[in-house]
Amino acid sequence: MNDEKETFVIQGTKALSGSIAVRGAKNDVLSLMASSLLFSHPVTFSNVPAISDVEKMKILLQGLGVRADVSQKKRTIAVDASSLTHSLLDPALAEKIRASVMLIGPVLARLGEITLPYPGGCVIGKRPVDFFIEGFKKLGATVNEKNGLFSFRLKKNDGGTIFLPYPSVTATETLLMNAVLGHGITSIQNAACEPEVEHLAQFLISGGANIKGAGTHTIIVKGTRGELLSQKTKEAFPVLPDRIETGSFAVLAGVLGDPIRITGCLPHHVAALLERLRATGVSIRIGDDWIEIQKPKTLSSVDIKTGPYPAFATDMQALFAVLLTQAIGQSVVFETVFEERLRYVEELRHMGANITVCDPHRAIVVGPTPLEGKNVKSPDLRAGLAFIIAGLIAKGESVIHNVYHIDRGYERIEERLQALGAHIERVNTENNKA
Ligand code: EPZ
Repeated sequence: MNDEKETFVIQGTKALSGSIAVRGAKNDVLSLMASSLLFSHPVTFSNVPAISDVEKMKILLQGLGVRADVSQKKRTIAVDASSLTHSLLDPALAEKIRASVMLIGPVLARLGEITLPYPGGCVIGKRPVDFFIEGFKKLGATVNEKNGLFSFRLKKNDGGTIFLPYPSVTATETLLMNAVLGHGITSIQNAACEPEVEHLAQFLISGGANIKGAGTHTIIVKGTRGELLSQKTKEAFPVLPDRIETGSFAVLAGVLGDPIRITGCLPHHVAALLERLRATGVSIRIGDDWIEIQKPKTLSSVDIKTGPYPAFATDMQALFAVLLTQAIGQSVVFETVFEERLRYVEELRHMGANITVCDPHRAIVVGPTPLEGKNVKSPDLRAGLAFIIAGLIAKGESVIHNVYHIDRGYERIEERLQALGAHIERVNTENNKA
């Protein structure tokens, strides 16, 4: 699934219709898996997506001595962290997945130390870890860096107040997880409010944690004084539906839906995106767990500005820019979260889009412009999906390389799009058929 020789070969089309089910959220299951280290007993999660980042996190946990068993058939993962013994994250693996930073909090809470490489992930920006270093130092940790490895040491978290310079999602999550077993009261201010943060807190509270304010900008945690969480949750704890998948399919439907129904989702988690989609003229019907979208005759240009939840999600910026290439007029794309998240523009221009990058955070899209099928390389996970949408709109054939990026966060995406009528094939450039 992650072979670097695999490509998606796509034929452009005029319309797609049918229904597509949303899978479990990558950015929810990864933090839940990390939090399982805080429990005295095995924990099980359901609605787990079959994506390579889950596989990588599972191997990282196993490398720490933790039992982790995935059942793709049942879409569950069971984690038993009672055998956690090691504190060194496998450097070759941890640098491939940004989510490895989430393990700092729980491993410190259990073992008092952790060593990990500079975390990798997407090429969407420098993605520093200063909030993690400063945050844990505030709680009394020592942090050393040697030969590209960070070592954090914190024997006991006696509590304290941390003000995050930016509402960082994984910094909030890892500090929250550490505080849960702490020996005092920890207040995280300017915390991230993403649904995945609130959901993580819900899971920890179900295990007996004392957390107030998750989902707001101030989270207060009263630590268990080193006691592992021991309350048993009845059955498997379900992973949230992926709001970024939901948004991705909503944008696809905005340009090609005739109509497309997105099922198994939480519409209120993508309110900012739906508001912008409606502003372009797309018609949207919403139920409790579904969204039905019909593309309009013409799309009107709109401006988008990304920001922390509940603002327009940065992960949907590249996707929406593809839709804006088909909208009449000029649109401003303002990416406020990451400084390198406009890298996809070059390849879209190569396909015929009229996009001008004004500075690392702003681009101007003028449409509508016909797109031509081309050979393109996906620089990151979300731009990869944006190129799939561009390939489905373009005239002729597109070949997308580096599909392993897309497999990190979208389960068997080509099969699910084929069910909507899309002509997309996974092809291994070596033996010509995947
Ligand atoms: C999470 O990344 C998500 N990943 C990202 O999704 C998402 O784009 C991002 O949040 C924003 O919503 C996971 O949850 C695994 P941040 P995270 O810390 O936590 C700066 C995807 O495609 N910053 O909220 O790493 C940072 O550079 C991925 O699924 C520091 O300066 O993002 C950025 O400008 C991509 N110092 C801003 O904060 C730090 O120590 C927000 O980043 C940490 C972050």
